[in-house]
Amino acid sequence: MALNSLHDRFGREITYLRLSVTDRCDLRCTYCMAEDMTFLPKRDVLSLEELEQLASAFIDRGVKKIRISGGEPLVRRDIMTFMGRLGKRLENGDLEELVLTTNATQLHRYARELRSVGVKRINVSLDTLNDQTFEKLTRRNALSKVLTGLDAAQEAGLSVKINTVALKGVNENEIPSMIKWAHGRGMDLTLIEVMPLGEVEEDRVDQYLPLTAVRDALEEQWTLTPLDLRTGGPARYLRIEETGGVLGVITPLTNNFCAGCNRVRVTCTGQIYMCLGQSDCVDLRSALRGENSQQALNDALDRAMIAKPERHDFDISERNAAPSVSRHMSMTGG
Ligand code: GTP
Ligand code: 5AD
Ligand code: SF4
Repeated sequence: MALNSLHDRFGREITYLRLSVTDRCDLRCTYCMAEDMTFLPKRDVLSLEELEQLASAFIDRGVKKIRISGGEPLVRRDIMTFMGRLGKRLENGDLEELVLTTNATQLHRYARELRSVGVKRINVSLDTLNDQTFEKLTRRNALSKVLTGLDAAQEAGLSVKINTVALKGVNENEIPSMIKWAHGRGMDLTLIEVMPLGEVEEDRVDQYLPLTAVRDALEEQWTLTPLDLRTGGPARYLRIEETGGVLGVITPLTNNFCAGCNRVRVTCTGQIYMCLGQSDCVDLRSALRGENSQQALNDALDRAMIAKPERHDFDISERNAAPSVSRHMSMTGG
């Protein structure tokens, strides 16, 4: 255990940092963003040096896994310089894993370089393989770019997990074919329950598809065997005997996993959110930009640990309800 490791009031050790490097994205998924988003002015966003200093402070306090997220992390200019610097921390064992969650639209440009700086696996957000559904869901016509990006990632030797948000009446009927497609290409696929974060145009009640129902439907056609496999995130995994591949399920609504929570999130402006499902945050940017920044950062992290809640209180049961959390997912990158 690291000296001064990060522990919350419930005895959970924080070893996983999800670090957002931008709030911008080149897609506009209807469950994630509103069409008309206002993005942050540049001066509010942490510089690469500041992001690196922050990451170091977490590593010094025992964080072993860092996931870079966004918005879409690969739309940030100079992102690979930052990835390269973090990659160096893998070489001496300070960090055990450096991973990325991406929509894959820029992956054809960066896949090889990501692999060369030490990224071994990436999670790619993709909810449909149908051109029209993709355009409706993301409000952009970019499926072919995503597929080219995926090819590049696999050619570069990155292992790929597809993240698919299960959406009632949108990709519901496509789930089995997406699983077959992913498994056929040697990729795992994880299904996610939609969470009520941020005001979007549609009602969450209309989007929400409980994974308990999806699993029942899949079990009519396939044999699902639960696995002990863990990747440090909230997903639970099952093997599908017929496809030979792994299916993950992330079930914040139907099966709470907060007791095993090991993570915190930092936005690109340096706010640390102790829980995806709560609004409480602590400002790390002022600590970073003020005097005696190392000490100030450590003090801020201690305050954050005290404030980490036991669990989220997401709820999708009432029509026209305000979102459980008012910020959009694009601020914390999931
Ligand atoms: P690995 O286990 O490393 O593959 O990653 P992960 O599942 O932690 O990361 P990923 O970015 O693939 O997460 C997928 C989605 O799961 C996120 O975008 C969120 O929607 C959801 N998720 C991840 N962590 C949490 C969490 O702590 N709480 C809740 N409620 N949802 C989470
Ligand atoms: N609920 C669940 N998942 C979401 N994502 C974005 N918004 C939501 C939401 N409201 C997912 C994306 C991506 C990850 C970063 O978060 O599809 O996989
Ligand atoms: Fe942790 Fe909050 Fe996610 Fe629960 S919802 S696992 S407490 S971050």
